[in-house]
Amino acid sequence: MKTFENITELRGFLKKFHKEDKTIGLVPTMGYLHEGHMSLVKTARKECDIIVASIFVNPAQFAPNEDLESYPRDLKKDLHLLEKEGCDIVFLPENNEIYNNDFETYINLEKLPKHLCGLSRPTHFRGVATVVTKLFNIIQPGKAYFGQKDYQQILVIKKLIRDLNVPVKIIMCPIVRNDDGLALSSRNMYLTKDERKDAVLLHQSLLKGVERIKAGNKEINEIIVDIKAIISQSQHAKVDYISISNGETLKEIGSIKGYKGLVLLAGAVRFGKSRLIDNELVEL
Ligand code: PAF
Repeated sequence: MKTFENITELRGFLKKFHKEDKTIGLVPTMGYLHEGHMSLVKTARKECDIIVASIFVNPAQFAPNEDLESYPRDLKKDLHLLEKEGCDIVFLPENNEIYNNDFETYINLEKLPKHLCGLSRPTHFRGVATVVTKLFNIIQPGKAYFGQKDYQQILVIKKLIRDLNVPVKIIMCPIVRNDDGLALSSRNMYLTKDERKDAVLLHQSLLKGVERIKAGNKEINEIIVDIKAIISQSQHAKVDYISISNGETLKEIGSIKGYKGLVLLAGAVRFGKSRLIDNELVEL
């Protein structure tokens, strides 16, 4: 496995694979890797000739009051896991390799970031869209792998590649969960023992919502009240949002009477210092 910090050197190394028309699969990450990330690498390994993983804690997607400084890092362990999974190349840029001193070009989407996580993190998706576009330009992968847990992020990236004609296929991989249902996340490490116990309520409540939708319960507001009631069994939980929306536009659905298509049940809840997100999709 080869590692690169420098964009020019990485591009030079990738040149021959592009010339030979090899499929390059990109797994973008912010490090502190867990089984969720490794499932992306595993899928990429099956589908691509060359796997590039990137590890970059992207400052542009953190607001000043967020956890950029304390975001967990363990590079040695990350490299070990990636090597074990058969990753070929790891891109590990420093901040100034990605953002030069007078950097001023950001990718902004007009609509998708105005929902869900974008409401409490208004600059987050601009940071994600910008860094992911840069990674696509630097690496020029044929495919890029993302986890369903960050569903809104995937929609944003799918939209930007369509709007900007970026020739990459986005592959969404399923959420990997602990045995009790908690979605794996690097931020789970901030949870205290009690918060960790309660954190499963987020997924359990969304499953209850799925059950009610499938049972034909039409009033979305009632379902949301019930989901919130389950979460509020925890004294540690503070709901940021619970939303039931169109799985393509993220516009909230008032009633599922006559609704056809993909429904997204999504939530963000703070348990102590951790802001956890999760979602479920239902096709109607
Ligand atoms: O999902 C993440 O870890 C990040 O948002 C990503 C896609 C690596 C961009 O920084």
